[in-house]
Amino acid sequence: MINIALPKGRLGEKVYQKLKNAGYACPSIEENNRKLIFENEETGVRYFWVKPSDVSIYVERGAADIGVCGKDILAEYMPDVYELLDLKTGVCRMAVAAKKEFYDNGERTLKVATKFVNVAKAYYAKKGRQIDVIKLNGSIEIAPILGLSDVIVDIVETGTTLKENDLEVKETIFPISARLIANKASFKFKTKEIETLTDRLLQQLD
Ligand code: PRP
Repeated sequence: MINIALPKGRLGEKVYQKLKNAGYACPSIEENNRKLIFENEETGVRYFWVKPSDVSIYVERGAADIGVCGKDILAEYMPDVYELLDLKTGVCRMAVAAKKEFYDNGERTLKVATKFVNVAKAYYAKKGRQIDVIKLNGSIEIAPILGLSDVIVDIVETGTTLKENDLEVKETIFPISARLIANKASFKFKTKEIETLTDRLLQQLD
């Protein structure tokens, strides 16, 4: 059995379709119910729906052998896992955004609101810019509007959220896409199964 942690939501559903096409179908997952664990003995898979930001925790600790999570999560939490494949989906970017009129003249400590505290700290440390990080859990775009922060470090996909809140991207930090990750011990003991799955999934991407 390969235990697979999928991120709940659109990305997870998309990736499941690719896994299904790759030969890892699990019909019960497509039933409309509130279950979180699904198993198919024939194809040897057990899927879990977990919160996207928790996928790497399940995989790192071995509760799941493999999982799918964004590069943003890997950059923020740096889990001790193998990154097997860029799934080329869930594409977006990590960016610094602010009000259109905002310009950082570097004169005082920059107030940065974000969910990605480690990413923000590392980015500004590299630039030698002193910051005050304000950790938020969502709706980050409100922070500069209300004067809680000067800028935000957040994910930008279509840019609609920024646009509709009169904010704009000031700098791109790094590109993001979904990655297939594996627990290190699982990879050692289930090498063949995991490699076969990775290869078949790769064919689905091409
Ligand atoms: C993410 C991100 C932005 C938005 C960007 O939020 O934090 O708010 O998506 O997408 P866009 O560029 O296509 O508008 P999410 O939906 O995860 O909710 P959150 O407010 O809880 O972070």
